[in-house]
Amino acid sequence: MKTVYITTPIYYVNSSPHIGHAYTQVACDTLARFLRQIKRDVFFMTGSDEHGEKIEKATVEAGLKKGQEKEFVDGIVRRFTGLWEKLSIRYDRFIRTTDPIHEETVRAILGALYANGDIYKKIYQGWFCTPCEAFWSWTQAEKGICPDCGRPCEKLDEENYFFRMSKYQKQLIECIEKKELVISPAMRSNEVVSFLNGNVLQDLCISRPLKRLAWGIRLPFDDNFVAYVWVDALINYFSGIGYLDNKERFQGLWPADIQVIGKDIIRHHAVYWAIINLALGSRPPKRIFAHGWWVVGGEKMSKSKGNVVDPLYLIDEKKYPVDALRYFLLSQVQFGWDGTFSEELFIEKYNADLANNLGNLLNRTLTMVEKYFNGVTPERAPNGSEQGASLGHEAERLGGGIVESAQELPARVRHFMDIEHEGPDFQGALGELWDLVDKANKFIEVSAPWKHARESNEYALRIIIDNLIQSLGIVTALLYPFMPTVAENMRSQLGMALPCERMTHDMIRWGIVPAGTRTLKGAPIFPRIDTSK
Ligand code: MSP
Repeated sequence: MKTVYITTPIYYVNSSPHIGHAYTQVACDTLARFLRQIKRDVFFMTGSDEHGEKIEKATVEAGLKKGQEKEFVDGIVRRFTGLWEKLSIRYDRFIRTTDPIHEETVRAILGALYANGDIYKKIYQGWFCTPCEAFWSWTQAEKGICPDCGRPCEKLDEENYFFRMSKYQKQLIECIEKKELVISPAMRSNEVVSFLNGNVLQDLCISRPLKRLAWGIRLPFDDNFVAYVWVDALINYFSGIGYLDNKERFQGLWPADIQVIGKDIIRHHAVYWAIINLALGSRPPKRIFAHGWWVVGGEKMSKSKGNVVDPLYLIDEKKYPVDALRYFLLSQVQFGWDGTFSEELFIEKYNADLANNLGNLLNRTLTMVEKYFNGVTPERAPNGSEQGASLGHEAERLGGGIVESAQELPARVRHFMDIEHEGPDFQGALGELWDLVDKANKFIEVSAPWKHARESNEYALRIIIDNLIQSLGIVTALLYPFMPTVAENMRSQLGMALPCERMTHDMIRWGIVPAGTRTLKGAPIFPRIDTSK
């Protein structure tokens, strides 16, 4: 089976990463870990976008000089990779647009497009928005105001190179219609299709004159120009997997199975990038998934608006568990939709879902294993025992389908995570896990194991505890892609020998925690956050 190739956007390294960037990373990392659990090989790539005016400007603002951009970005890239490590983001390749192989690939591709007659030179007159790195015609940016970000644009009147986009417009529409390129969620696909059907694509300006911008990759066919940063950046998806230096790997990975991006850069991917592929005679990515924005105080969180939430503040300063942040990002909104971020919402969800629900279930269950079975998981009531059968039946009845739910859980998670069918829906998958956690907590209340202990009904106790332990074992293994550190911790408290990382879905079933397993209750995994202080 083909290795699943997953990409994130490559982030502008003009300032520190924020929750919006962390979101895509956590989502792709979770997807990659999930796919490995269903025995798929995965290649997960991320990286940094290091050229262009934004970086040139940020370098000078940081007190360095023009020409010291590489020094500047080296420092910021370390902040990104350091954060990815803290967030347990395990990627296979980190591509930087200043990597020599990337620069060579950009030059090779632009050279090929030029040789193909797809690139030509003309005088460009219009607006340019530096923060958005976007060109606008006189009519698009009314009075010189960027239609995207609302900031003033600069006037341009200069010679530049252009890429013939409209030449491939029809072919692109066909690709989308034939589902060779799927854009998710469906609402985004509709937007792209109606844009393509309603407009003749303007040719894309792919250069900046050297005299205006030095920090970029020189065009192979004209030394007086550098590549427009978006064209440079998009090519990372090729340069990082061996387009030039490892043809075999490239052929094994392309077309990408899923390219995850934020909704603001959908046109760059679903139109520009897809068309660059068509012009090169290559297939466009199989799927582009555009997620929504994290909104703070009603506005998109962004560096330029100064309302960013720094993940390090939450992890290092407030000492919230990393996996709690991963959980919040993945469960708060359905993937594809906007979500509101605030520390209050984070704490609310933490206390409700993690401390009170999951953490409590683990704690109560392990306490009972210690108390009633000396810390060793019990055998279920022996088959054929009349008393066992009737009490077992009673416990199942009280359990409200806990056994069936637990057994169906891996398939339910696969359903929500399926990238071939509108997935991944992290919120949906986590919802299934929490449904079982909820049921298990309620089961403790209704089955009242303490009562059976008082009455020495050992058969009932065994069934009750086994129901809880098996449910927890299954939840733990399935939780791993979402919350890897917590899952491994739960796994060792449950006494399960095999690391979650090595558990594949075929192993995740009733009986996952064998009878006779010694449990090792540890400190509560999610101590309640007290907000009254
Ligand atoms: N460098 C380009 C991408 C080039 S990909 C070939 C870029 N960089 S960025 O750093 O500005 O943004 C990277 C990603 O972060 C985008 O997918 C963007 O949607 C995402 N986010 C930025 N702010 C965000 C939120 N407030 N919420 C969620 N994601 C957001 O664009």
